[in-house]
Amino acid sequence: MQQQVLYTSNVNATLSTIIEGGNYNAVMVLADSNTRHLALPQLPCLENATVIEMPSGEASKTLDTLTGVWRAMQQCGATRHSLLVNLGGGVVTDLGGLAAATFKRGIPFINVPTTLLGAVDAAVGGKTGINFMGFKNEIGAFAPACHVIVSTTFFPTLPEQELKAGFAEMLKHAMLSSSESFFHLLDTDFSCINYDTLLDQLRDSIKIKEDIVRQDPHEQGPRKALNLGHTVGHAFEAKALADGHPIPHGYAVAWGLVTEAVLSHLILNFPSHQLYALASFVKSNYGAFHITCDDYPHLLDIMRHDKKSLAGEINCTLLHSCGDYSINNTISNDDITAALDIYRDLVD
Ligand SMILES: NC(=O)c1ccc[n+]([C@@H]2O[C@H](COP(=O)([O-])OP(=O)(O)OC[C@H]3O[C@@H](n4cnc5c(N)ncnc54)[C@H](O)[C@@H]3O)[C@@H](O)[C@H]2O)c1
Ligand SMILES: [Zn+2]
Repeated sequence: MQQQVLYTSNVNATLSTIIEGGNYNAVMVLADSNTRHLALPQLPCLENATVIEMPSGEASKTLDTLTGVWRAMQQCGATRHSLLVNLGGGVVTDLGGLAAATFKRGIPFINVPTTLLGAVDAAVGGKTGINFMGFKNEIGAFAPACHVIVSTTFFPTLPEQELKAGFAEMLKHAMLSSSESFFHLLDTDFSCINYDTLLDQLRDSIKIKEDIVRQDPHEQGPRKALNLGHTVGHAFEAKALADGHPIPHGYAVAWGLVTEAVLSHLILNFPSHQLYALASFVKSNYGAFHITCDDYPHLLDIMRHDKKSLAGEINCTLLHSCGDYSINNTISNDDITAALDIYRDLVD
């Protein structure tokens, strides 16, 4: 099923039109403990909806929470003609999407992302899931929402760190798209965000993800482009977690993008002016993830065991330049070591 992504500065009007046109016998809204208070009151069209609340944060993306949502849907008599509205960040849209996709073999759902990461990544693309037995997104389904309503309305209450985390995924999309989109994003000043400009940039950014996902909905090939920045980023994220100092995923992606831009420069001649512009933006807005040479063996080991790597080889998406990407590059130990050295020179 094709999902429709709608962009609006009036979420209530857009949502209310969809609900009125849908002839649903029940409307439910899944929110977390933050979005229930920060976002739900801005949507009077959901006044009569059954509210299902889940605790906020990654720790609640579990089978227990999912069971609670199924139970609540059953208790309010939901059928295949009922609608679930997922109102929240990636945790709510991932878990709520799975709840809707599995309840009575699937009921319609709408994603209303309230975080930038949710809007640019989690709520679009049709992947749902929960964490299981210590593995992230271990249980899930490809299940697109009928509609995704994208707006910047809810972002003013987002902590700056959450905004920056989502922005890193936008940077990734821009680098896959064109140098023009890339440099446009680098003009962003997080101390005075223009939410109208951000909505326009989100539209461009989501379109890039949609184009890639459309070519490869079940992640067999071209969708690997979206892994840009993530081979190294995941290694930074996993190392930080193992050291007991977790870092936000988006920050890991920002530092991963710099390192993979260095690799792209070394291997595919990625232009140095694009590399320096990226590194300088990341350094001033995200700071640095500190590593030393002693950390390299651990980082390389994580990269070799990344689920995208085949036969223990490190696999990356790289760029000839912004907008011209190449998937499935096998990276040698020497190249990754050189790239980590240069990352430290540029950012650390
Ligand atoms: N399905 C996919 O393709 C996909 C892609 C990327 C990420 N994800 C998943 O998304 C999740 C991360 O998403 P996230 O960063 O949105 O996390 P999140 O949903 O936990 O939201 C982050 C925090 O912000 C709060 N929040 C939400 N909206 C707010 C608002 N408007 N104002 C103030 N606070 C608000 C939340 O309550 C939470 O505490 C991860 O579980 C990740 O696996 C999925
Ligand atoms: Zn990511």
